Amino acid sequence: MKIIRKKVCVIISGSGSNLQALIDHCASEQSSAEIALVISNKPGVFGLERAARAGIPARVIEHNAYESREAFEDALDNALQEETIELICLAGFLRILTADFVEKWLGRILNIHPSLLPAFPGLHVHEQALAEGVRLSGCAVHFVDAGLDCGPIIIQAAVPVVPGDDADRLAARILQSEHAIYPRALEWVASGRARLVNGRCEFDNPGHVPDALIWPA
Ligand code: GRF
Repeated sequence: MKIIRKKVCVIISGSGSNLQALIDHCASEQSSAEIALVISNKPGVFGLERAARAGIPARVIEHNAYESREAFEDALDNALQEETIELICLAGFLRILTADFVEKWLGRILNIHPSLLPAFPGLHVHEQALAEGVRLSGCAVHFVDAGLDCGPIIIQAAVPVVPGDDADRLAARILQSEHAIYPRALEWVASGRARLVNGRCEFDNPGHVPDALIWPA
């Protein structure tokens, strides 16, 4: 049976290792998603190289070339419309989107964050986790709402904090789990198995819910 694939845009600002995980997932014939566009708000980042290697159209839309956040987002939106994008994955995108933009894409825009949200939103996530002395951190993919790194959670992975960790070591351990959960979340949303309903992530088959937490082995 031919799978109808949702057209996805991945928006990045950097190295794009999560983008790579999504590209690798979508390379499978079984995937319900197709990455049709990559947008970076920064030129020269490695994520653009990853898109080029995968033969995916990529655009640089530099936020500082626009006089306002709204003008930047209009440019984003135009690019998304031109490619008839149906879903957005933010992956290491370091800009805050306006409530208007988010509202327009509500239920169709996902983000990944390297903590067990709602703990430690924003920047310097791993420093915050280490300063608090948590034993467990992790990562989450969520539907984006108008707040910073918040919105209904689709999936989380728990990752232990190990004695002697610094922010870089913890970040690297968590990043591995990010690469495991983002493709899974995208697949669920693209296939319609997970969706945003009344401010919560609902699953078609509640039997999928236990998979929405990955626990360290
Ligand atoms: C990831 O840890 C992501 O969760 C965070 O920024 C990092 C981006 O990494 N928001 P990459 O660009 O996907 O390699």
